Amino acid sequence: MSRDARFEPSGPLQGSYTPPADKSISHRAAVFGAMSEEPVQVRNYLASADTGSTLGALQSLGAGVDQADDGSVLIRGVGLHAPLEATGGLLDVGNSGTLMRLLPGWLAGQPGRVWTLDGDESIRRRPVDRVAEPLAAMGAGVEAREGRFAPFTVRGAALQGIDYRLPVASAQIKSCVLMAGMLAAGSTSVREPAPSRDHTERIMRKARVPFERANGTITVSQVDEIELDEIVVPGDPSSAAFIVAAATIVPGSRVVVSGMGLNWTRTAFFRIAERMGAVIVGDLEEPGAEADTEPIGELDVASGPLEGTEVGLDEVPLAIDELTLVALMGAFADGETVVGGAAELRLKESDRIKGVVDGLRGLGADIEETADGFVVRGDGSPLRGGTIDSLGDHRLAMLGAVAGLASEEGVEVLGMDCAAISYPGFEADLGALLG
Ligand code: S3P
Repeated sequence: MSRDARFEPSGPLQGSYTPPADKSISHRAAVFGAMSEEPVQVRNYLASADTGSTLGALQSLGAGVDQADDGSVLIRGVGLHAPLEATGGLLDVGNSGTLMRLLPGWLAGQPGRVWTLDGDESIRRRPVDRVAEPLAAMGAGVEAREGRFAPFTVRGAALQGIDYRLPVASAQIKSCVLMAGMLAAGSTSVREPAPSRDHTERIMRKARVPFERANGTITVSQVDEIELDEIVVPGDPSSAAFIVAAATIVPGSRVVVSGMGLNWTRTAFFRIAERMGAVIVGDLEEPGAEADTEPIGELDVASGPLEGTEVGLDEVPLAIDELTLVALMGAFADGETVVGGAAELRLKESDRIKGVVDGLRGLGADIEETADGFVVRGDGSPLRGGTIDSLGDHRLAMLGAVAGLASEEGVEVLGMDCAAISYPGFEADLGALLG
């Protein structure tokens, strides 16, 4: 049974705030931990439904998982080349698209082994052909329902390296091919049409996996083992973005965010928000870092009168999970806010273009859907309010809550409980900042 929740117009958000651990990095830390022969201590592992699915799947593959009260998880891996047969060969990815796209990269390189991956109703609508195609080209077998959906079967094989051009700038596909490349004979190249989040590359660097990056192409060579002992997970900028968006649209707000990941490939939303007129001060990382760790730091955020903006095509992959919040801020801004080149949003936990356009229109916004984005027009005044359906999508649920705080009449969010997919403490954290 899903739970609805009402968010009334509020006073300013004030105080200090630490976001929950990063979801993308937690998934990767656990998977790389499982691929390691030595135990890997993951500090600040995200406690959420999605990252719980990852631990469950890795346990099914034979990895040991010891969760401590301080939020760290010790992963006792099985090594790169020997995941055990899963019970009945079935791996449950729950609602997690990242787990569904990353894990096959490892499984594909296990000759003679077969696994079937499946998940919830939402995951069964999300395509896997995007990873099936390169893995098949490397020699693995992938059979999916209707050729592109879960449940799907991965048949491991002795892989061959390939030169693969990503059809879209997707960190999930990139990561899957790089992981398979670590197991493939020769070298494997992945060409990115535009930069996407680089957490996998940073963990590979830390794990001493030999790879190079030049002119948008990453080339990885086969390895026998990886070397890791500890991974520290920063706070999630995508989760923090909801609180930051609230602080930019509720007048008089000022929030200091600490312990947040400042990785350039994840922080385009904050650059966009600043361009729109929000006051954002912090040491966001500069582009081009070839680091083996994640930068962590502080962001000081205050509300300001917002102006519409056009989101650049190169910004889209770097703010992919926050673009719906750009729509929300656009509804409170003066002028037109345009997002295009973001058709990928239709393939997320819900069709986020349709979800945000229908949702914000229902709250009084002047917003139009385009094939690959949306256009929203505001006059600087607040949204009226009303009811919004989360469609079971955690990010739409949290967007509805934020809209409510800044609205004239409040917002009822249908299906608020799905926020726990990525951010179980969201309502409590919001409440603490409202005093
Ligand atoms: C993710 C990459 C993004 C993002 C998702 C997490 C990742 O997906 O939307 O929430 O952890 O690699 P794509 O890479 O498919 O755009």
